[in-house]
Parts: sequence; structure tokens; C-alpha cells
Amino acid sequence: MTQASTTAQPQATSTPKGQTTANPAAPPAETPLVIHEQEDSVWLPQGSSTYAAPHDAAWDFNLWVSVIFFVIVIGPMGYFAVKYKRKSEDERTSPVDHNLRLELFWTLIPTVLLIYMFWVGFKLFAHAQVAPNDAMVIKVTGQMFNWTFEYPDGTVTTDLGVPKGRPVKLIMSSKDTLHAFFVPEFRLKQDVVPNLYTTMWFEATREMESTVECAEYCGDGHSRMLTRVVVLPSGDKSTPGTFETWLDNGGLKTPLPPLQLGQKRYTALCSSCHSLDGSKIQGPSFKGLFGRKEELADGTSVTVDENYVRNSILNPQAQIVKDYPATMPTFTYLKDRDIEGIITFLKEQK
Ligand code: CUA
Repeated sequence: MTQASTTAQPQATSTPKGQTTANPAAPPAETPLVIHEQEDSVWLPQGSSTYAAPHDAAWDFNLWVSVIFFVIVIGPMGYFAVKYKRKSEDERTSPVDHNLRLELFWTLIPTVLLIYMFWVGFKLFAHAQVAPNDAMVIKVTGQMFNWTFEYPDGTVTTDLGVPKGRPVKLIMSSKDTLHAFFVPEFRLKQDVVPNLYTTMWFEATREMESTVECAEYCGDGHSRMLTRVVVLPSGDKSTPGTFETWLDNGGLKTPLPPLQLGQKRYTALCSSCHSLDGSKIQGPSFKGLFGRKEELADGTSVTVDENYVRNSILNPQAQIVKDYPATMPTFTYLKDRDIEGIITFLKEQK
């Protein structure tokens, strides 16, 4: 660890200020998070998984059956209420009290329709529950307030990247409270629960980029618990733009320079608890953090330098700043490259 932090230092300090990457206001090399395509539409965004088309067909069928029955039940009901309104005290109720043929007609047709709707829904539900045997398994961890993804080769990323046309199975759990993993384009949503694994699978059908949302209120960072999902063509590591290259770059389409990598890691992992403008969220603000003298909970104090930042990422409970809760999770899966990036980014927060 000592060796790693000494190698971290020169790299992190050697980023020249005048470099194009040194201005945090400059547009990032990566495109910003697309919330959803057709964001202003009342309809769900374009379906992008094999599950989406049958799901949408079932949804539309249910919707239109409901609309049609609403009209043919409520329409005549309103008409009859007016037409057969009792007009005087001595008007008598009609002696006709039932009609077997009519009642069979309006019982059997809806019964058949409902059985059909149940069957379609049940088939889809069963299909969604059982992943194909050859699915690639990605472990998903939700925690206040970010997502991380662990791939079969051990790579941990903060964006979800998946190959197009290959089934993917997510095995999900939470480190703290209830979250819910939701990608509208895949038409899939699943609770993510502590002390339990939940699963979900899909096969992406087109190259696209969208956002994973948390769909279960999990605390004051809930609405910011978003991350990128990107569907890439399958290929090999030597071809740029493939899923394999993305994975090899640690969840990036192309490797980023330290400042931009740091900014990306900050946005994905730190921003829900550490502000850049001096305001207090869960943890101390990063504004002017570097070089600041912090009073610690144990009465000692520390000047924020490379080693303090590194230690706070890998072993956050060791040096808790006074008057802040000891709630920061550890980020031991971050690579040296990521930590150097975060240090570089922090130095820019004057
Ligand atoms: Cu996590 Cu809402």
C-alpha cells in the first residue's frame, strides 16, 4: 500500500494545469448521462430488449381491452340512468329481472378474455424469471447512493455495459437499504434487497445508451442514484467500440485522462454525499478540500493530502471528520488509476 501511494503521488501531481483536461468546466470526453430518449414523451422509451416487444404487446392489449370495456359499460350505464330515471312516485319497476342469454354472453366473453390475459402475463412472467443457461452473470450491488457491477473476470465498474444480442443475468444485492433496479428500455424492474439476492435477466436488442434508475425510495440521495447503461456490439479486445474493449478499459469506451476519470468516478460514487459547492450533504464538501486541515472525531487533526484521500477511500472509518457520521462505504475495488484520478479531480476543487 505504501508503495502504491508513493507511485500515486507523482502521477497525480504531475498533471499540468494548462492541459486541456485541467479545466473542470470543460465538457467531459464522455457524453453526459442521457436520462432517456424521448424524455418528454408520456410513453415508455423505445424497447431495447427481447422482453420489451411481447411486454409492450401485452400492455397494449390490456390497455385497449380496459378502454373498450370502460366505454361499453359506462356509456350505456349513463344513458340508462337518464333514460330510465324514475319520473313520478307511482312509476313501477319493470318486472323483467334477468335474461339468461344476455348474462351468459357478458359473462363468458370477459372470462375468455381474462383467461387469455392471465395466460399471456403468466408466460411473460415465467420467461422473465428464468434466465437462459448461457447468460453472462453480472453481480450488481446497490448502496446509498450508487450502483456497482462486477463482471465474470473480476472487473468492477460503475456503468453497466452489456453486449448486444447476448443474454445477461444480474444477481443483485444491497449493502444497506431497499433499492430497485430499473431500466425502462428493457421493461424490467427488480427490488434490490440487503441480505438477499434477487435476479433479473435480459437480452439487449440494439446498441444504445440510457440510464439505470433506482425505483425505490432509499433516502435523500434516491433521485440521484442514477448510472449509465450502455449496449455495445460483441467482438474482441482488439476492436475499439466493442463490449470487450469497454470491459478491458474498466467500464469506459476509451481510457480517460486522470482528471476526467476522477470526475467520472466522483459523479458515480461520491457526488451523492460530497458536494462541490461547499454545501453539506452526508459528508464534507470537496470544495477547497485539498490542503485543508480537518478536525477528526478522535480529537486529532489531519491535513488533506494524497495519502489522506487514498486512505479515506480504502479505509474510510479510520479517520472520520468531526461532526460527520461514520457512514462512508469502502471502495477497495477502485484501481490505483481511479484513485489517482479522484486525487487529481479533488485538487481542482478550489
Ligand atoms: Cu436507491 Cu432509491
